[in-house]
Amino acid sequence: MQLYMVEDAENLAKKAADVIQEIIKEKPSAVLGLATGSTPIATYQELIRRFQAGEIDFSQVTTFNLDEYFGLEPKHPQSYHTFMHNHLFNYINVAEENIHIPLGVHKDLGDVEGYCKTFEHFISYCGGIDLQLLGIGNNGHIGFNEPAEQLQAKTHLVRLSEKTLEANARFFSKKEEVPQYAITMGIQTILSAKKIVLLAQGVEKAEIIQKLFQTGITTDIPASFLKLHPDVIVIVDQAAGSLL
Ligand code: GLP
Repeated sequence: MQLYMVEDAENLAKKAADVIQEIIKEKPSAVLGLATGSTPIATYQELIRRFQAGEIDFSQVTTFNLDEYFGLEPKHPQSYHTFMHNHLFNYINVAEENIHIPLGVHKDLGDVEGYCKTFEHFISYCGGIDLQLLGIGNNGHIGFNEPAEQLQAKTHLVRLSEKTLEANARFFSKKEEVPQYAITMGIQTILSAKKIVLLAQGVEKAEIIQKLFQTGITTDIPASFLKLHPDVIVIVDQAAGSLL
């Protein structure tokens, strides 16, 4: 993992946008893996700014999102569908048919497994992910791959940990409203991306970033599996990197 420490959130967004812009310049039909959470918002704003300035063209880009709350309709205000449209897709020229976000609600709830397999196949069908953007949960989760005795390789339904329910309660009016399950890409799905960029900002991420760099590969810190990948860039601001 290659570490970049930048001064603040603004520079973090610029650095992340640089990497994304570079990939699209090299391959206009790039497949991007995208993330939600508060961390990538400034990066998405920077991408929108560059799109409006005519510096990036998303017309041939395909996107796959890491995860979605299970049980939320795409139009739900807290769904990751809504998040991605509000923070990025509504302001750039990515084609709606090229946007892929796991569905949190299925007509046939019994076949979530089949749905997850289809999502996986579709990533392969599109040629695999060229660049996967990640945030990190304060318990070390990536996507919604929570610390556990065993991690799942492929896209799957997961029960969210108490720590994640608490951390994500800030987006809902009360903790009880946070969906208890989510659909997430698995660790192998994430590691199959050709390049990975993990972002962390703010002092509340300092402890997990320290653990990530000072611990070996362990299912207690799902992000530690990124150490198996040959091309991972970790971009932190000074606050998130303050314990390194
Ligand atoms: C969420 C998402 C993750 C994200 C993480 C951190 O639960 N599923 O993809 O990286 O939490 O979020 P934040 O950037 O708001 O700290």
